[in-house]
Amino acid sequence: MLKNEFLWGASTSAFQAEGAYLEDGKGLGTVDVRKVPSGIADTKIASDHYHHWEEDIESMRELGLNTYRFSFSWSRIMPDGKTVNEKGLKFYEQIIDRCLEYGIEPLPTLYHFEMPQALVDRYQGWLSEKTIDAYEKYARICFKWFKKKVKRWVTINEQLIAGAAADLHGIHTQDPEQAMKNMYQIYANMAIAEKKAMLALKEIDPQAEIGPVCAIQIVYPNSSDPFDVLAAMDAEEMMMYSLLDLSVNGSYPPRFTSYLKKKGYMPQISKEDWSLLRSAKPDFIGINYYFPLAVCHPQPNQDFSKLPPFWRCELFQVVDNPHLQKSEWMPNGMDPEGLYLGIRKLYDRYHLPLIITENGMAYSDILEDGKVHDLYRIEYLDAHIRKIEQAISEGYPVFGYCPWSLFDLISSHQGFKKRYGLIYVDRTDEDTKTCARIKKDSYYWYRDRIRKGINHD
Ligand code: BG6
Repeated sequence: MLKNEFLWGASTSAFQAEGAYLEDGKGLGTVDVRKVPSGIADTKIASDHYHHWEEDIESMRELGLNTYRFSFSWSRIMPDGKTVNEKGLKFYEQIIDRCLEYGIEPLPTLYHFEMPQALVDRYQGWLSEKTIDAYEKYARICFKWFKKKVKRWVTINEQLIAGAAADLHGIHTQDPEQAMKNMYQIYANMAIAEKKAMLALKEIDPQAEIGPVCAIQIVYPNSSDPFDVLAAMDAEEMMMYSLLDLSVNGSYPPRFTSYLKKKGYMPQISKEDWSLLRSAKPDFIGINYYFPLAVCHPQPNQDFSKLPPFWRCELFQVVDNPHLQKSEWMPNGMDPEGLYLGIRKLYDRYHLPLIITENGMAYSDILEDGKVHDLYRIEYLDAHIRKIEQAISEGYPVFGYCPWSLFDLISSHQGFKKRYGLIYVDRTDEDTKTCARIKKDSYYWYRDRIRKGINHD
């Protein structure tokens, strides 16, 4: 990696940023129809990026970014999952063209928690192989339209969360066992869809690169008790390696296979699909990292049923980590060391270049006299960037960093009180106001940090 090649970016995602939820031919997406608790912002306006995109790209230029990680709204490009809405493609084209004009490399994600609701109504979304075909078709359309303009693509954002959060993918069941089966089938189908997209890209634009984005799970054992150590290893395998092994190598870790069989959760994967899964490799892995977890060996008679599905496997139990500093929106604690460990773990296992596609600190920021003094966020970002520098100086190929998020967005589940942006968006959950943009202290700090560059020593 040449020293000047490091990508300094920032991240957003379509449904959390754009708004304009039915404008210019966009269809309903899964995230537009989910039930949002009252008092929590929905996708209709979000941060109104659809009408502020020019101003937002100007801010990127002033910041000194050389990459922008964002996502396409599948339902804007293919409102019914079948036909193409050219206005949707053109919306992204103007963003991509403007970014390129400013020397900002676009890094789009094809699926970031959102698909046309029509695919859920028609096929049960990711549960069906028909959706795999629909995704491949959508990917091919995007690859052809943006050939030579987009050098790097992301296939799917955070399979772990996307497959487990029923409200994000639109498939609901009351039966907890069925929910578990669905989750593992969805993970498998997503992995197959990703491989189809990887092969399609190499056919359409062979110079371009493609990779998944993983919500990395860095799990500490609660003690040196060997059973706690095993629980931590199992947790990382169940929530991270099982997904990435499939995305990268087209296989499952043995213990995970045995777990799926024992529980009756083994997804249906045909012989042809197993060969497909082994037939393509990503060019890089994107890392999303916010905080680590700590686990212990499960105590007897625990009720796991209320936990998120990927914590329900009964091989580990999530516990508090007293060593980490917590905050209102980061109850699991903040830990830059976890990012460093994640870089090492992923590189040692997969030997692929890595980019940090999300990392950020949530806070209920306060706007005072037209300013946001978010020193807490500066400290968080600075500490994490230092860890990336350490990894790079030791020889790990990390080629970029994109904090979440460029500007405030609706959080995946918690509306507008939970803010991550470098730029404040003036709205609340209840009152959309004008969504005016106000640069926070962290924005100016990040601009100066980018100018300093990466210290490779
Ligand atoms: C990641 C997602 O899981 O974390 C983003 O890719 C999300 O879409 C981010 O917004 C932060 O999570 P949350 O739930 O605080 O918005």
